[in-house]
Amino acid sequence: MTITHETVAVPDGVVAPRFRPPAGASSATTVSLDGDWRFRLFPHPDTGVDRAEPGEDWDRLAVPGHWQLAGAPHSWPYGVPEYNNKLFPFPIEPPHVPDDNPTGEYRTTLRLPADWPEGGRTLLRFEGVDSWFQVSLDGELLATSHGSRLPTEIDLTDRLRPGTDHLLAVRVTKWSAMSYAEDQDQWWLSGIFRSVSLEHRPAGALDDVRVHAAYDHATGTGTLRVDAASVVGAGLDAVAAQVTVPELGLAAASGEEIRAAVEPWSAERPRLYDVVVTTDTETVTLSVGFRTVSIEDGVFLVNGRPVKLRGVNRHEFDPLRGRSVTPERMLEDVLLMKRHHINAVRTSHYPPHPHFLDLCDRHGLYVIDENDLETHGFEDERGWEGNPVNDPDWTEVLVDRVTRMVRRDGHHASIVLWSLGNEAGGGINVPAMADAVRALDPSRPIHYEGDWSSEHVDVYSRMYAESEHVDLIGQGIEPALERADADARRRGMPFLQCEYAHAMGNGPGGLSDYDALFDRYPRLMGGFIWEWIDHGLTRTDADGNLFSAYGGDFGERFHDGTFIADGLLLPDRTPSPGLLETAAVFAPVRIDAQPDGTLLVRNRYAFRDTSHAELRWTLHRGEEELASGLLDLVLEAGAEAVVRPPADLALPEPGDAPVWWTLRAVQQKADALEEAWLETGFVLGAGQLLLVEPAPLVAPSGRVTTGADGGYVAGPARFDRRGDLRSLAGREVHAFRVDGWRAPTDNDRRAGMWRGLSDAEVWRSTSMHLLAERKAGVAVSEAGALEIDARIAGPTTRAGFATRYTWQPVTDAPDAVELVVDIQPEGRWPESVARLGVLLALDEPRAVDAGVRWTGLGPDESYADSRAAALGGAWEHSVADWQTRYTHPQENGARRGVTSAVLSFADGSGLRIDSGEVTIGGRPQVGFELSLRPWSDEALDRAAHPHELVPDGRLWLHLDAAQHGVGSAACGPGVLPNAQLHVAPVRMRLRFTTL
Ligand code: GAL
Repeated sequence: MTITHETVAVPDGVVAPRFRPPAGASSATTVSLDGDWRFRLFPHPDTGVDRAEPGEDWDRLAVPGHWQLAGAPHSWPYGVPEYNNKLFPFPIEPPHVPDDNPTGEYRTTLRLPADWPEGGRTLLRFEGVDSWFQVSLDGELLATSHGSRLPTEIDLTDRLRPGTDHLLAVRVTKWSAMSYAEDQDQWWLSGIFRSVSLEHRPAGALDDVRVHAAYDHATGTGTLRVDAASVVGAGLDAVAAQVTVPELGLAAASGEEIRAAVEPWSAERPRLYDVVVTTDTETVTLSVGFRTVSIEDGVFLVNGRPVKLRGVNRHEFDPLRGRSVTPERMLEDVLLMKRHHINAVRTSHYPPHPHFLDLCDRHGLYVIDENDLETHGFEDERGWEGNPVNDPDWTEVLVDRVTRMVRRDGHHASIVLWSLGNEAGGGINVPAMADAVRALDPSRPIHYEGDWSSEHVDVYSRMYAESEHVDLIGQGIEPALERADADARRRGMPFLQCEYAHAMGNGPGGLSDYDALFDRYPRLMGGFIWEWIDHGLTRTDADGNLFSAYGGDFGERFHDGTFIADGLLLPDRTPSPGLLETAAVFAPVRIDAQPDGTLLVRNRYAFRDTSHAELRWTLHRGEEELASGLLDLVLEAGAEAVVRPPADLALPEPGDAPVWWTLRAVQQKADALEEAWLETGFVLGAGQLLLVEPAPLVAPSGRVTTGADGGYVAGPARFDRRGDLRSLAGREVHAFRVDGWRAPTDNDRRAGMWRGLSDAEVWRSTSMHLLAERKAGVAVSEAGALEIDARIAGPTTRAGFATRYTWQPVTDAPDAVELVVDIQPEGRWPESVARLGVLLALDEPRAVDAGVRWTGLGPDESYADSRAAALGGAWEHSVADWQTRYTHPQENGARRGVTSAVLSFADGSGLRIDSGEVTIGGRPQVGFELSLRPWSDEALDRAAHPHELVPDGRLWLHLDAAQHGVGSAACGPGVLPNAQLHVAPVRMRLRFTTL
């Protein structure tokens, strides 16, 4: 059979897969072949280039790397990246792919180093090549392989002569039959994107080392057995090896079980021991963790304790290098996860670079290692018709893939579950893969979300299930499967959300709601937020500005736009507010205010008490600290306690800012297991109580005066005769009216999984994006206040806001004016509204430089359903820093519970805004929601990328009673009822003071 890129067959001419020790862990010689290779790109796989062609005058291309990113961020000499989520960008006719199939010819010269050991075998190793490739040496075709995120090894032993140059030729196609199995939601990026090396394998080498390192929590005993094997021919044969654990003084032969009292490995305490495995010809030193994963009574346990996975889905991504990530980036990811209380990572949707797993072992992250398999594009094709996962022709290929992963990675303590793939439907190859994995490694449960009845897996997994449904599953009362036996089996399994809380743009909302369920029900083993990072590729625009590109930004004709930007990190790894929210929700020491005015402190570690944390409290008004102290409390793992402020704590009289009692669990010092990531004063959890509300504003009693032009003056506010506000605090006013709209978030724009219209469409249906004001009357009341009646509404609808604005100067404070806004909705309203409050645009040519100090929740943005990270206090920002530069511009930056805000302008002038009573539907709340921008919501809505936003010479303020939550409707449920904003009468009392 002639093997082509359209052949469905396992790799040919390759060596049996073996395990991958960490770099430097083996005594065997290796040499890296990374560097500049000779390269030429052709339009078709039939390149017409001789395998013996040395390509001396070709271009130079860095290996590892993707050819599409060779000139990033400025030029794209070898074609551009293309982004598709699930739909195939070519006709579905497996195994065929388009003729237009960019194909890279790579050449490099191989020369064995002079000191290359005698004897044994010499393997050429590729860690990852996307998507299909042929390897030739000195003009002879030796192997074809695929499995983009899996290693391939080729035996060159008899072909390499010391001191001789050999020509290595690699032909890589962009598309192949395997593209049907690698349809993950990401950029299509090709080439030799992970490292290449020559590896010496001595005779009797340690080609396969299986580590069985278990921990018996009842006795504190670790059990270790190491099986060693050498590659012989096409298979593996057991080899006798010596196993020592120097730290424990243990020695044994391979295959022998040894026991000792050990400290177990967990993500909380990633204790590793050096295990030295030796044959006559090779020594490998592995970092081994003793731990046992089990499922008992439907509960997921690590070392006998229930563990909740508070995880993220991680794609490999670098904004300049794509999936060709450096060790530094991998470390950055792991440390950022640890610093944000993430304890688990699903390697969506393929085995990561093996070094990432070394880091997870070392620093402590539970891992779901996922097979390189997704066939999602078949779903819409008459319900998975022709899906490789249900095709016997693909069985061998799919089993090959999953076993290559298990063999490569099986020795990692961090891996607690194997995943058969993602969104690849069901069929005969699911049990085939599951059986193959179990045969190699019965110690870890198997995960595959696509197996809805969970027939072949060990945990019940879903993605984006609504919290109501998760609640039912937690209770074990979810709707039954048709087959009673399958139903009974699934009901006995722990439940995992392999994806939830879609972090696209501003969001996710509702994370706390899920997390509370995970805590409530033992059956729920947690979940993995979708996803870790926005895959925005850095590029320049026509004017040379750098920006993060998403689907369509490379001129792709068929793409999925912004859907690639759905991470907790912005593409440059700046934590988004969503990551800060995640850290607060995932906090290992949760501190939550209770309705009865106490704080509930919960130790959510599975294995640690809280003796490493100080519980520090402060009583503060804004930034002014009134008192502070420590709580004498140590909680055992899993324990909780109710705490309250000390009984003798003297509380001040109400003043102009609320008084908070804030409690933080703080870890000062890191021990050896944590020092890589733990920063001094690391907060393990925080919570607070509002003890003293601010004093009400003194009622104003000044009188409005009439100007010569027939207009009105109320302290620092000037109006024309129609009642239009013309200036405030000496600044021209460009807009002032009630508002109900926001620049839709990515979540607002999508309908979610279970609804008809998106929120943005709902708001459009009442023309909220086109609101205008009609004045109905202007009068000065007997009390001397200016009363302006107005109706704010958009075209095509009867729905509108009947509003009275009452302006009254403040006696003895000529620079102050008070505004009461009364909003009465009229007409029929849809289920939600984006915001309810007033919009104010002031003239300010240097708005970005303006500073703002506020008392309220902060320091970062928060919304009704993503507010765990925001704490009451006094905070400061510039208007520039106030903005969150989401990869795709949208509503951002709201600060809630604001009781006062001071704006300082570049010219030295200032404006203070204080809040009095704020009610929605008659319910009182503390403070208002403040948003500030140097551009309008319309401009924000229109911009496709942050760098397109240009300050327009105004400062745009929103002073809202409330905003709608953000939800997760971009993929998943919309805003939950507890965070929806429904139209209701609103009353807001605000005071403006010129400074
Ligand atoms: C899931 C899929 C992910 C990603 C996500 C949406 O269905 O597994 O790969 O596409 O949706 O961002």
